[in-house]
Amino acid sequence: MKRLSRYRRHKAAAPLLLVIALLAIGTTFSVASATVKQSTITYARSAAIDEGKQLFLKGCSSCHGLNAEGGAIAPSLIGVGAASVDFQVGTGRMPMADMSTQAMRKAPVYNAEQTAALAAYVASLAPGPAIPEDSVLNYERDGSTAAGGELFRNNCAMCHNFAGQGGALTQGKYAPTLMGVEPKQIYEALITGPQSMPVFSDKTITPAEKLSIIKWIKAAEKEPNLGGASLGRVGPVTEGLLGWVLGLGLLIGVAVWLATKAR
Ligand code: HEC
Ligand code: HEC
Repeated sequence: MKRLSRYRRHKAAAPLLLVIALLAIGTTFSVASATVKQSTITYARSAAIDEGKQLFLKGCSSCHGLNAEGGAIAPSLIGVGAASVDFQVGTGRMPMADMSTQAMRKAPVYNAEQTAALAAYVASLAPGPAIPEDSVLNYERDGSTAAGGELFRNNCAMCHNFAGQGGALTQGKYAPTLMGVEPKQIYEALITGPQSMPVFSDKTITPAEKLSIIKWIKAAEKEPNLGGASLGRVGPVTEGLLGWVLGLGLLIGVAVWLATKAR
C-alpha cells in the first residue's frame, strides 16, 4: 500500500490513469455497440424474411405452393437460393404472367427492397447460391476481355450467338440477347442456370473466369463490331451472301459495259 501511494504521487500517474480509464470506456463502448449492431442486423434479417413470406403468399404461392414446395405448374423453390430469386424477380421473369413456353424478361413487378425480402425468405428455407456482393463483381479490375471472349465462344455462343445477340433454341424456346444485362444478373444466370440454360458452377467456370465473361459482354456492348460487317450480326452467311450479290452484280455490270464498248 505504501508503495502504491508512492506511485500515486509520481508525475506520470495522472496521465496514465486517464489513459487506462479512456481505454476501459472505449472497450466497453465498442463491445456494447457491436452487440447492439449485431442484434439490429439479426432483427432486420428476420423482418425481411417475414416481409418476404407475406409477399410470397400473395404473389407466388398460387403457383409455387404455400411453403414454396412446388406444385403442378411450378417447381419447388427450396434450395434454389437467393441468387435465383434475385435473378428471376429482378429481371421481371417472376411472377410469371402467362404460362407460355418460357418466362420472359419484363419490367420488374417488385422494387429492390421487396425483391431482397423475397430472396431472404426463399434463402431461409434451405441453403442455396447467394446473391454475389458488389465487391465480388469488380470485372473491370479482375476480368480479362480476351480470356472472356474465348470462354464465351466455347461455352455460350452455341445458344446466345457468337456476338451475344441471342438465338432460337428448339421447341419454341430462345436464348435472349445479353446486351444490356446487369453484371450481377449475368453472374446470377451463370450460378443458377435459368430454365434451359445449364448451371456453370465455380468448378466449370471459376469466379475469375465469370468476371472475364462479364467484361467481354460489356465490351461487346460498347464495341458492337467484333469483326465482320454489322448486318444484324446474324453471322458469316449473310455477309458472304451480300458479298456474292454485290460482287456478282458488279461483275455483270462490268461485263455489260465492256460488251457495249465493243460494239
Ligand atoms: C403463374 C405461375 C407463377 C407465379 C405466379 C410465379 N412463378 Fe416462379 N416459376 C413458375 C414456373 C412455371 C417456373 C419454372 C420456369 C421454367 O423453368 O421454365 C418458375 C420458376 C421460378 C424460379 C426459378 C427456380 C429455379 O429452379 O431456379 C424462381 C426463383 C421463381 N420462380 C420465383 C418466383 C417468385 C419469387 C414468385 C413471386 C414473386 C414467382 N416465382 C411467381 C411459375 C410461377
Ligand atoms: C443451352 C443453351 C445455353 C447456354 C450454353 C448458355 N445459355 Fe444463357 N440462357 C439460355 C436460355 C434459354 C436463357 C433464358 C432463360 C430464361 O428466359 O429464363 C438464358 C439466359 C441467360 C442470361 C439472362 C439474360 C436476361 O435477359 O436476363 C444470361 C446473362 C446468360 N444466359 C448468360 C450466359 C452465359 C454468359 C453463358 C456461357 C457461360 C450462357 N448463358 C450459356 C441458354 C443458354
